[in-house]
Amino acid sequence: VKKRSWGVLKWTWRLTYLSVLGGLGYTAYGIWQNRNPVEQQEPDPTKKTLVVLGTGWGSVSLLKNLDTENYNVVVISPRNYFLFTPLLPSCTTGTIEHRSIMEPIRNFLRHKKASVKYYEAEATKIDYEKKIVYISGDSDIKGTISQNEVPFDMLVVGVGAENATFGIPGVREHGCFLKEVGDAQKIRKRIMDCCETATFKDQSPDEVKRLLHMVVVGGGPTGVEFAGELQDFFEEDLKKWIPEIQNSFHVTLVEALPSVLPMFSKSLIDYTEKTFKEETIEIRTKTMVKNVTETYIEAEYTDANGQKQIEKIPYGLLVWATGNAIRPIVKDLINQIPAQKDSRRGLAVNEYLVVKGTENIWAVGDCAVANYAPTAQVAGQEGAFLARLFNQMAKTEEIELKLKDLSEEQGKAPNKEARDQVFEEIKDLQKRLRRVKQMGPFEYSHQGSLAYIGSEKAVADISWLTGNLASGGQLTYLFWRSAYLSMCFSTRNRVLVFMDWIKSYIFGRDVSRE
Ligand code: FAD
Ligand code: NAI
Repeated sequence: VKKRSWGVLKWTWRLTYLSVLGGLGYTAYGIWQNRNPVEQQEPDPTKKTLVVLGTGWGSVSLLKNLDTENYNVVVISPRNYFLFTPLLPSCTTGTIEHRSIMEPIRNFLRHKKASVKYYEAEATKIDYEKKIVYISGDSDIKGTISQNEVPFDMLVVGVGAENATFGIPGVREHGCFLKEVGDAQKIRKRIMDCCETATFKDQSPDEVKRLLHMVVVGGGPTGVEFAGELQDFFEEDLKKWIPEIQNSFHVTLVEALPSVLPMFSKSLIDYTEKTFKEETIEIRTKTMVKNVTETYIEAEYTDANGQKQIEKIPYGLLVWATGNAIRPIVKDLINQIPAQKDSRRGLAVNEYLVVKGTENIWAVGDCAVANYAPTAQVAGQEGAFLARLFNQMAKTEEIELKLKDLSEEQGKAPNKEARDQVFEEIKDLQKRLRRVKQMGPFEYSHQGSLAYIGSEKAVADISWLTGNLASGGQLTYLFWRSAYLSMCFSTRNRVLVFMDWIKSYIFGRDVSRE
């Protein structure tokens, strides 16, 4: 028995050794292949031109899954990288460095089978009738030409949304948003500015209190995750290195509705509110901000007697996270299409994501209105669906062309035997065509919602076959981390994010200002 156990152990060891070696070899080959892209097919002028606007969740998911050899693909976006937004709140405090969640679009496009043109530019106007996109170069360095026109046969609009301010005065001038890398960098710098200015020689106590009051407006997931990250930064780093601020630093979350995280289940809302209380983050629900000045916000709330009151809340840092608004280019396109006259929140699309009232324009993500929440999950699935649709369309066209050729061949066939042979081929192709054409409409599959709430706790509403599973706490936080790590765009991103987590765990976050 002893001999046999030893044999089993030896074989287990050998197999483990071989699989580790195989895994390492496979990873090394993947990295080598990534660094050494092969020649790409040149664009074919006989193919249709597919123009894709944006390099966010929707557009990149489309490009990832698209067989680019079927079209002349042109990508236009002012951002030459994909941004993994779910981890953006962690960049505001330096838990994660922003470059760890960015993936250069050039590297990614260079690995497609057929080459893809990329223009770093903003699409300023889409002329639906003329089938032209007008573009304007976005770089600080200007060449002799910085504006141009790009004609299209097919267009995918994936330009996302901009920050909603509801026209509230002062928000754009004095608040910080949290949508792009630049926003996270600005917030990170401002947190340190507030701390350093508060400790300036002879700063008055009232001014210290104001400067160290961090106000977050909007109790959706962006506001909640940022508030949690900021409180962590204070507890784990700031108060150690700048002990003078420890009695004045204070985070307040202001929300117009009766609760935060309205899209989560009631138990998780209660859990979040309880956790915030323990973390000493103040939540002000049923409080709507109406005006913003350089040093305070004016918010309306209802007092104990049911009277509406306006309160001035001084702040040092104001982060504005009140959701999405429609981009001007999308508004302009809506105005060109009569069937879109009732669209208020974005481009109304049908079940195949075709912009209603058009035949050759599709929309994905936050700029499309398809009765789903504006999330990365929806945008990603929409992009992948469109890629499948376009791949199928190309296949259909190819089969239809072959069928046309075969019918001609059949007419010219010299004898019955040859005619029958072509007939069999036609039958096979027709069967294939029917299969290809069978693609159903887009159906969103909700995998669940996740949000970090600070002090190494997260909340999750996960969809199961049997229903919904709501969970909150530290185990959910581990799940949150592993889920987002696995969802990162590339192995490179995964490694960088993992190293950032280890780095901030061991050495703490960097509190230098730049
Ligand atoms: P985006 O990803 O915003 O991409 C839009 C693209 O269009 C960008 O590349 C932009 O540069 C480009 N663009 C803009 N204007 C133009 C123009 N005029 N011409 C050409 N290109 C243009 N969702 C989740 O499901 N889970 C999460 O955990 C999550 N966390 C989030 C955290 C934060 C901080 C934020 C802000 C959002 C989060 N979201 C999350 C929401 C998610 O990021 C969005 O729903 C998603 O990014 C939408 O994808 P999109 O492709 O429509 O737009
Ligand atoms: P949101 O639209 O989800 O929430 C904005 C909140 O701001 C609302 O609750 C609204 O009542 C409040 N608000 C609006 N005006 C206000 C005012 N004047 N004063 C006070 N409060 C006001 O916006 P958010 O959080 O930016 O998210 C945008 C989208 O991105 C959502 O679809 C969200 O689900 C998604 N997202 C998902 C995340 C996740 O799953 N972890 C993380 C971040 C965003």
